[in-house]
Amino acid sequence: MTASQSLPPLDTAAKKTLLRKIPHGVFICGVREGDEVNGFTASWVTQGSFEPPLVVMAVRADSTSNGMIQRTERFSLNVLPADQKDLAAVFFKPQKGIGGRFDAAPYQLGPLGLPVLEAALGAVECVVVGQVNHGDHTVFVGEVKSATLQRDGAALELAGTGWQYGG
Ligand SMILES: Cc1cc2nc3c(=O)[nH]c(=O)nc-3n(C[C@H](O)[C@H](O)[C@H](O)COP(=O)(O)O)c2cc1C
Repeated sequence: MTASQSLPPLDTAAKKTLLRKIPHGVFICGVREGDEVNGFTASWVTQGSFEPPLVVMAVRADSTSNGMIQRTERFSLNVLPADQKDLAAVFFKPQKGIGGRFDAAPYQLGPLGLPVLEAALGAVECVVVGQVNHGDHTVFVGEVKSATLQRDGAALELAGTGWQYGG
């Protein structure tokens, strides 16, 4: 089939079933703009290159953090241990004010000045080197500039949570 031939309509039910089979972790993305810190639960995350080390993360176009990443061109990715599902829930629920979610999660600032949660196995801090604005999420490509390993262990995975984000 050539590009000029029309495609059959997308089978949206099949698309949803198949895309939901892509395995995901559950992470807390941290952002900071001046004195304001924010964080949100992110599962659309993967590695994109060994050298330089790149990660790829999709962020809702209408979220608070998206604008902060666009303006500051950096973000952290906190890897949660398998037993921190409750903390992940804090970071996707609506909050009273920017940064309020961190009341449940003490953190320090990493070398790039981004939140590294004490409860996390560790975090990488990234500088944005590319982005795709097409659709309801922005796909950010971040180059990993710092890595803080606080402890090792099994990481939280979406499959075991009963939550869905995808399809
Ligand atoms: C299981 C799960 C996974 C999520 N993954 C993502 C994600 O990968 N990217 C994203 O932008 N939002 C994701 N969200 C939604 C955000 O966590 C949510 O919209 C959050 O409130 C955004 O916060 P903010 O507006 O303060 O930036 C996910 C939500 C859940 C429940």
